Amino acid sequence: MQRTRIAEVLSSKKINGRFTLMGWVRTRRDSKAGFSFIELNDGSCADSIQLIADQKLSNYKNEIQRLTAGCSIKAVGTLVDSPGKGQKMELQVEEIEVLGWADPEIYPLQKKRHSFEFLRTIAHLRPRTNTFSAVARVRNAMSYAIHRFFQEKGFLYIHTPIITGSDCEGAGEMFKVTTLDLDQVPQSGGRADFGQDFFGTPASLTVSGQLEAEIYALAMGDVYTFGPTFRAEDSNTSRHLAEFWMVEPEMAFCDLEGNMDLATDFLKYIFAYVLDNCKKDMEFFNRFIDTSVIETLEELVSREFEYITYTEGIDILSKAKEDFEFPVSWGTDLQSEHERYLCEKVFGKPIILMDYPKEIKSFYMKVNKDGKTVRAMDVLVPKIGEIIGGSQREDDYDTLLDRIKEAGLNPDEYWWYLELRKFGSVPHSGFGLGFERLIQFVTGLSNIRDVIPFPRTPGNVSF
Ligand code: 4AD
Ligand code: MG
Repeated sequence: MQRTRIAEVLSSKKINGRFTLMGWVRTRRDSKAGFSFIELNDGSCADSIQLIADQKLSNYKNEIQRLTAGCSIKAVGTLVDSPGKGQKMELQVEEIEVLGWADPEIYPLQKKRHSFEFLRTIAHLRPRTNTFSAVARVRNAMSYAIHRFFQEKGFLYIHTPIITGSDCEGAGEMFKVTTLDLDQVPQSGGRADFGQDFFGTPASLTVSGQLEAEIYALAMGDVYTFGPTFRAEDSNTSRHLAEFWMVEPEMAFCDLEGNMDLATDFLKYIFAYVLDNCKKDMEFFNRFIDTSVIETLEELVSREFEYITYTEGIDILSKAKEDFEFPVSWGTDLQSEHERYLCEKVFGKPIILMDYPKEIKSFYMKVNKDGKTVRAMDVLVPKIGEIIGGSQREDDYDTLLDRIKEAGLNPDEYWWYLELRKFGSVPHSGFGLGFERLIQFVTGLSNIRDVIPFPRTPGNVSF
């Protein structure tokens, strides 16, 4: 089957060129002059193309006039300048073949607009809508830009494992991977006997590729990983998923300052790439989802981010005349209301918050000379809050061992991670970017479930 994508046809401007198009009908209406106007979309771009079918076509009455939203067709015709409003070009059809019907009585996408909640229940059809096809194209462009950014900088792409035996964040929010019969779990000493399990030991889905990325950074310098990560936290919010994608660079011979520089360069590169390469889709989001997205991204490409320490942040928050649900004091973890207050009300732009108290951060972060804070940095953005979490890593063997014990973790399970601090340890740093949160920020979509094709959240794993 030979066809030309609508994106290519519309950008080719080959007036009088002959094309074969295939796609799904969005709308169809008849004109009094004996024509049928069909809006055809194939997902290759935001625009549909208008087809003009003359009543002289042999299947005009039997088929063409019966076409409704969702039907798939093949159309052969000539591209001409359009006299009508709303499009520059249209296809003068010579032949239409119906590939698949979509019964209008039961095809769910009849109306022009549906709620996002409803569309989530039909994840098999929602990519046929303007919003979800635009999200898919922008998500694709951003994935490509991420690889391009790191490849241009000489970073190596490392495939870190999805099944793992260690908990990177030490928070115990992991999905177990097992082939044991859950109706009859073998026991040993009153507990599940993982000795009889597939791996002979407990295994889980990874929450982050960081620890394995560190292994490669400490051999090859600058690396990154970009893959799915899993968190079994019971968070039913607009910014949490149980399965999400994370981008994690890791750099040897790099301190926290270098890490923050990379994070800001990286974000600016992605924003600029999307503005340059996804114009139509961004115009769509700017018109229908959030009227400030384009301006926000344009500003960020040229503006500096704000850098403040956690201590300064707490100071600002405790003086704020704002009714927070969660009170703040030095040592407490920031809630999203605090993150958003700092970004939206105080600075009006993304901020990088650093040097958090060690008690509220992961065991692997480098302890500052004050002994109280760690070399952590979170990038917070308006409307969403944290999109990046990173740090300089603890590279001193004894300090790391103490931190692992303090965190209540078993040092035996981290023997290899500790050993990296025994043999040729170097200062190194990295961060993790939540890919879906970045897509939310770029598109303006307020719910994270709408920027991933198949969202997994507590109580929801339908197809
Ligand atoms: O801050 P986090 O937990 O950091 C790490 O996992 C580090 N190991 C990363 C590193 O240094 N290599 O997660 C990183 C980012 C967060 O800032 C957030 O954007 C995103 O991952 N994230 C989630 N996104 C969607 N749903 C969830 N449940 C998320 N949890 C974290
Ligand atoms: Mg974090």
